[in-house]
Amino acid sequence: MVNPVELDGVTREFGGVTAVQDLDLTVPEGKFTALLGPSGCGKTTTLRMIAGYLAPTRGRILLDGAEATRLPPERRNLGMVFQSYALFPHLTVAKNVAFGLRMRKAGREETRRRVGEALELVGLSHLAERRPRELSGGQQQRVALARAIVIRPSVLLLDEPLSNLDARLRVQMRQELLNVQRETGVTAVLVTHDQDEALELADLMVILRDGRLEQLGHPRDVFPAPASRFVAEFLGYENFLTVPGHGPVTIRPEYVRVLAAGEEPPGGTLLSGTAARVTYRGTDCLVAVRAGDQTVLGTTAAEIRPGDEVRVLLPGDRLIHLPENAPVPATAGDTR
Ligand SMILES: Nc1ncnc2c1ncn2[C@@H]1O[C@H](COP(=O)(O)OP(=O)(O)OP(=O)(O)O)[C@@H](O)[C@H]1O
Ligand SMILES: [Mg+2]
Repeated sequence: MVNPVELDGVTREFGGVTAVQDLDLTVPEGKFTALLGPSGCGKTTTLRMIAGYLAPTRGRILLDGAEATRLPPERRNLGMVFQSYALFPHLTVAKNVAFGLRMRKAGREETRRRVGEALELVGLSHLAERRPRELSGGQQQRVALARAIVIRPSVLLLDEPLSNLDARLRVQMRQELLNVQRETGVTAVLVTHDQDEALELADLMVILRDGRLEQLGHPRDVFPAPASRFVAEFLGYENFLTVPGHGPVTIRPEYVRVLAAGEEPPGGTLLSGTAARVTYRGTDCLVAVRAGDQTVLGTTAAEIRPGDEVRVLLPGDRLIHLPENAPVPATAGDTR
């Protein structure tokens, strides 16, 4: 099997700034790959190099196994959805979607048929004659998606396609994006800084830090085993503790039990402290416990008030060890 996109030691410098450094990445065919990381970590730069809008300073890009480092964008069979959608305001929805086919000199009948199919796929057939300004944000986003897939790209590149939408629509569109990817079987590369979006959509999650690969793998493998504090923080972990006999660890608050005085502890590491903050959550309480110079977040079903002397129980099998330095990332193409 040939990989749709391979980056081999790709580096991009802008003057003195290294935006992407020595990146090796294999994008698996027919899957959803998410490039994830904080602002400025090199996500857009990576996508633009794959698309051909930007040349690497060093390294190679292979598309379908063939050398493509210097190939111009129009000679790469890629569909791109930009953050701003970049629709043509004076063209109807149908003509916006037809644009890529006209550039490729597709025939009239074929264009009509394929535009119809693409609009159907994104649920916009009834709005084909509208103009972009007569559409909602979510509808414009669908037009951009239809325009990218109508050319049947071998890879669909998406740069934060949902970031202009409000929170509720964003969650809804995620599912639609996934449906379109699954129905067409297109290889998709999505840039996002939203970890929930990546967890929900990605078959392969690629976490970048300062232009370097920090960790990669299937969300179900990465989430329970962040390779560094950076990844753990990014994925929303909040407990960063040094536990006797374990060193630096993180643990989800759900697994930390806060015990009221007199509660008999089952096995695990116990720390003593004072309840600093108690937040009622319906089924249980989230408790911030001051234990020595550390704060531990845990949960309890017992009645605990701020100021109470408590103990926290850290089950050994839920502790995630965090190396001081990021380890070498797992091998590429590691999807389920
Ligand atoms: N054309 C450019 N000229 C100079 N520096 C650039 C250029 N494009 C990007 N950079 C720098 O390269 C780094 C990576 O930028 P990039 O746009 O790839 O980040 P990003 O991960 O997409 O961030 P965001 O989440 O904010 O979109 C940043 O430090 C940025 O300032
Ligand atoms: Mg960006």
